[in-house]
Amino acid sequence: MSDAIDPAVIKRIEQLRAQLHQHNHRYYILDDPEVSDAQYDRMMRELIALETAHPQFYSPDSPSSRVGAAPLSGFETVSHTVAMLSLDNGFDDSDILDFDRRVKRQLRVEDEIFYTAEPKMDGLAVELVYENGVLTTASTRGDGATGELITDNVRTIRTVPLVLQAGDNLQIPEILVVRGEVFIGVDGFRRLNEQRLKDQLPPFANPRNAAAGSLRQLDSRITAKRPLEIFLYNVGMSSATVPESHWETLQMLKRYGFRVNPLIRPRITISQVLEYYRELSANRHQLPYDIDGMVIKVDQVDLQVQLGATSRSPRWAIAYKFEAQEETTRVMDITVQVGRTGALTPVAHLEPVKVGGAMVSRATLHNEDEVRRKDVRIGDTVLVRRAGDVIPEVVKVIESRRTGSEKPFVMPKNCPVCGTRVNRDKGEAVTRCINSSCSSQIKERIKHFASKKAFDIDGLGDKIVDQLVSRGLVKTFADIYRLDRESLIGLDRLGPKSADNLIRAIRSSRKISFSRFLYALGIRNVGEHVAGILADKFDSLAALMESAPEEVECIDGIGGVISESISSFFSLAENRASVRQLFDAGVEIYRNIRSKAGALEGKVFVLTGSLQRLSRAEAKQLIEHAGGTVTGSISRNTDFLVVGQSPGSKLDRAKGLGIEILDEETFKKMVS
Ligand code: IVH
Repeated sequence: MSDAIDPAVIKRIEQLRAQLHQHNHRYYILDDPEVSDAQYDRMMRELIALETAHPQFYSPDSPSSRVGAAPLSGFETVSHTVAMLSLDNGFDDSDILDFDRRVKRQLRVEDEIFYTAEPKMDGLAVELVYENGVLTTASTRGDGATGELITDNVRTIRTVPLVLQAGDNLQIPEILVVRGEVFIGVDGFRRLNEQRLKDQLPPFANPRNAAAGSLRQLDSRITAKRPLEIFLYNVGMSSATVPESHWETLQMLKRYGFRVNPLIRPRITISQVLEYYRELSANRHQLPYDIDGMVIKVDQVDLQVQLGATSRSPRWAIAYKFEAQEETTRVMDITVQVGRTGALTPVAHLEPVKVGGAMVSRATLHNEDEVRRKDVRIGDTVLVRRAGDVIPEVVKVIESRRTGSEKPFVMPKNCPVCGTRVNRDKGEAVTRCINSSCSSQIKERIKHFASKKAFDIDGLGDKIVDQLVSRGLVKTFADIYRLDRESLIGLDRLGPKSADNLIRAIRSSRKISFSRFLYALGIRNVGEHVAGILADKFDSLAALMESAPEEVECIDGIGGVISESISSFFSLAENRASVRQLFDAGVEIYRNIRSKAGALEGKVFVLTGSLQRLSRAEAKQLIEHAGGTVTGSISRNTDFLVVGQSPGSKLDRAKGLGIEILDEETFKKMVS
């Protein structure tokens, strides 16, 4: 290497580093990018090329360290400057009220204390040390006194600033020690596991394990490929003066360029804290990341100092935990359920256990390959998980609890309901009962047909359907419309009044939108979303039935597999007959809802909560037809937030950004 360094190269390296820091900040922290991903990548590649050619310019705070460094042989340990404490836990309101009383008693005050309430991130605590504004070390919590040095790994997290942002009245301290939680979001987790399955690697059990595994990689180039994120929530130490309240400290962290959870509620009373807890636990499954509770902190820093800490945890903070979403229990049996498309699903029968606030006694095992992959056997002790409304599932077997008497599951050769020989196609994971008149298939088809997103027949629940099919009163969809009061009154759990209500609900379900109708038919691979696309492209059912598979296949978002399912569905005479009989029974598809073309050109919408008159797919269809787009999360680019019942956290975020909020009525007027 020559000694004479071209000053233009130095200048270019410095320029690229500054620009990449800035773009990174705009993209990941402000959510407001100025350049495209491709432009960013080009600049990064140029920087890496220059740095590789001129290694004397190596610098740990270069944005190029985001791609990872050479692997380590082990982690060094570091002592934390100030111990990283844990938190006391509370599990119900009275624990939290006790905490409030303790705080007041110790401070000898009777007035309200103000708290800051934060979502408790379910990830891993880390400590970041900035010297003169540059990230120099990052470590895990470890035992609280010493942790492991994971600086190279943390540098790869895009939301961690490598250098602090300076600003008006914001001086960069010589030393700043900040703490926060590293985590993987719900989407990132899903994509990561999909990729791992494709690569024949075992998937992670949950986002927390995935984050832990990613952060403790000796090869930071692997970490760089994992969708890690961070929220900062505390200052451990600063050589400059820090604000007088926790909330202002968080604002200061934001100005330095750190990501701080936007859902943190500042300075609220203990009763508002309890209210917020309820709101948060109701919306937790709509959040893009897992939280396991709420952290409540005394806001005023001088009061925090007065309260002090025990050896384990501060006296000025407490965690209010949600009910656990994962529990261990025993598999008593594994049976097989037959679904509406004939799919045989193995189901684990569990010793009943409370998970996420509800008793769970069954969990799906998805299919034969899943049972084999997880190696779940009858008698095993397993970890089960239930998140929100999703069906409980077996996460993994606790192998250390095996006794040797466990029995492996064998997929039956014949349908357990109708006895027909089952079939599993090559390359397919699903085993099916191929008898479409199998009573289990009929029951499940009818349940799907009557469900909320389909014909939405109030009162036609699972127990009633089971009886109607078992007694031979309903075999086809159209049979529902031929039911009369007399035949209904004979059923268990159905008095004359409920029978009348049910008849009324059946009658009024006859007028239906095209997309709901399509969804209700239960065509394989045609869910709510696909049904919405099809209803948008075709003017009528006849047009769809007459279309060539190649035509359907070319539609954006459809493809070969779906178009094949559709054509094979309509090629069966019994399916065509079942549709015809529905029309004969008085079912009527109302005209496609069409919005004014172009009226919303370029507008960006986000939807939250449940809409009363429209399904999500229908709302999306309306917006897109009018030239708008629908995205999943609020950003500065969002124009409108459409709010239904029990909206999620998007509402808060939209309000924070001053985005226009529409209720369902206003939205409908706007699009039609
Ligand atoms: S404050 C001294 N705030 O919870 C205060 N912790 O159970 C220490 N956590 O080790 C922590 N979200 O990993 C705080 N908003 C939040 C948090 C949070 C998650 C984790 C953190 C801590 C653990 C204690």
